[in-house]
Amino acid sequence: LYLDLIIIVRKGIILAGGTGSRLNPITNSVSKQLLPVYNKPMIYYPLSTLMLAGIRDILIICNPKDKSLFQQLLLDGKQLGINISFEIQNEPNGIAQAFIIGEDFLEGNSATLILGDNLFYGNDLSDKLKKASEKERGATLFGFQVNDPGRYGVLEFSSDNIILNIEEKPIKPKSNYAVTGIYFYDCKVVEYAKSLKKSRRGEYEITDLNNIYLNNGSLTGEIFGRGSAWFDTGTYDSLLEASNFIYTLEKRQSLKIGIPEEVAWRKGWISNKDLKRLSKPLMNSSYGKYLFALSNENKI
Ligand code: DAU
Repeated sequence: LYLDLIIIVRKGIILAGGTGSRLNPITNSVSKQLLPVYNKPMIYYPLSTLMLAGIRDILIICNPKDKSLFQQLLLDGKQLGINISFEIQNEPNGIAQAFIIGEDFLEGNSATLILGDNLFYGNDLSDKLKKASEKERGATLFGFQVNDPGRYGVLEFSSDNIILNIEEKPIKPKSNYAVTGIYFYDCKVVEYAKSLKKSRRGEYEITDLNNIYLNNGSLTGEIFGRGSAWFDTGTYDSLLEASNFIYTLEKRQSLKIGIPEEVAWRKGWISNKDLKRLSKPLMNSSYGKYLFALSNENKI
């Protein structure tokens, strides 16, 4: 008896391209996703989020000129017990293009996409992400209540809270639930992404991809509630607000947020000895001292 066993794993993509033009001149010569959010490069936050979801195979998609900088920062991920690879997006043709660029990397597996400028925080975050990660069929996205929904993809609900539609940057938003920049898809995602046409603003829209899943009846909408925070750090103000948020939390708690080395260690992907070795070259900073202190602790 032969059984054809195909094991589907979930891979992660961090989309870290774009022009960053809303942050000019800061981003004239530096990639937005490498700018500091308080004490870490921005990309550490989405990277940690994917790792918290249990994802260990990660593709970073960036502009041609930034690839070597991301590689210098993150190497190939082995030091974190994960695999990091890189692909280039030559032009910002839309978020959904990530799945066309990432087709070879995905090898028919399911995919989680996170935008490189999105920062998530919350007590129940890990559990919610893990749950979405474990789902083999369909797509899961996360809504968050905001004051300015018109800047985002916006959920429209029926009276019994069923998602009816998603609209990209509507002039008259039908709710104040924005779609956040983390998306969980099954292995159909590449096929669906290939079927997309460019929108009026000339992009392959993530919202159009999500509406395909919605119309198939295979989209799950989850909500990040009151106990959580979500920032997209693409403007001067939101970048500062995210930094202030991290600063305030870290000042008050003895725990830090968005440290990939810590997530890897807590997940058991690297040992106490590995963590100690990683802390050594950083010992002039409180970041390095934090890692060093952790490496002498037992995991909780
Ligand atoms: O932040 C969540 C929002 O992200 C969603 O609610 C929207 O539905 C979604 O369209 C997106 O809206 P934005 O206006 O924030 O998209 P933006 O064009 O700024 O792209 C988000 C990030 O992705 C940004 O850091 C740049 C990067 N990007 C974007 C595009 C279009 C790329 O790397 N390549 C691209 O082609």
